[in-house]
Amino acid sequence: MTDHVTAEREAAAAAAAAMVEPGMRIGLGTGRTALAFVAALGERVAGGLSLPAAVATSRRTEDAAKAAGLAICDMMADGAPTHVDLAIDGADEVDGNLCLIKGGGASLLREKIVAHMAARFVVLADAAKRVDTLGAFPLPVEVVPFGWTATAGQIEAALGVAPVLRRTAEGVLITDNGNYVLDCPLGRIDDPAATAAALALPGVVEHGLFITEADVALIGTAGRVETLTRAK
Ligand code: 5RP
Repeated sequence: MTDHVTAEREAAAAAAAAMVEPGMRIGLGTGRTALAFVAALGERVAGGLSLPAAVATSRRTEDAAKAAGLAICDMMADGAPTHVDLAIDGADEVDGNLCLIKGGGASLLREKIVAHMAARFVVLADAAKRVDTLGAFPLPVEVVPFGWTATAGQIEAALGVAPVLRRTAEGVLITDNGNYVLDCPLGRIDDPAATAAALALPGVVEHGLFITEADVALIGTAGRVETLTRAK
C-alpha cells in the first residue's frame, strides 16, 4: 500500500476524531481506515477525553479498540445500547449521493446495524474510493451457510452475475455472525435501490449497499480532507 493512501486514511480519521465530543457513544467501523480512526480516538482518550463504552462492528475492531484504551460494549448482553451518537466507518466505494459499497472486510451486517443505531453516520475514505458510479468493487452479500448454493443461484437470477464465495487462505471465510459472504461482480450499479430490492431473497442476511445511511463522507485527498454532506 502506497504511503499517500495511508496518509489520506489517517487525515480522514483525524478529521473524524476531531468531531467526537465528551460523553458521546461512538460506533466503531471495521477495516484499515476505521482502525486509523480507532487509533486517533485512543489518543484523544489517553489525553483525557471521557467517553462511554463504544460499540464495535467486528471482533477485530473490538480487539484494536481495547488495545487503544477504549471501553467496548457487550452487544450480546441484555440491556446493550440501542443508540450511538456518532458512528464512524470506512467504505469500499462512495458515490456523489453518499451511497456506499461496504463489506470488503466482511463486517457489513454489524456495520449496517450500527449505522442504523447512529444519530449521525460519518464514512471515511481515501481518494481512490470516491467513484461516480458504484459497482467496480464486487458487492458483498452475507448469506446463511445453509443452502448457500441455492441462494447464490437466486442472486445470479436476480442480478445477472455469478456470485463468488469468499475464501481466505484457511478456507471459506466465516463472518463474525457465522455466515458466508458472496461477492457479486456487477461492474456498475446504475440503480442502487433496485439492486438492494432485488436482494430481498431467502438466505440473504444483508448486502453491502448503504444507500441512505451516510450523513457525511470525509474523503482524504492530497493535502486536505474533502467533506461531502448528504443533501436534505
Ligand atoms: C468492512 C468494510 C470496510 O469499511 C471497507 O472494506 C473499507 O476497508 P478499508 O478501510 O480497509 O479499505 O466495509 O466490512
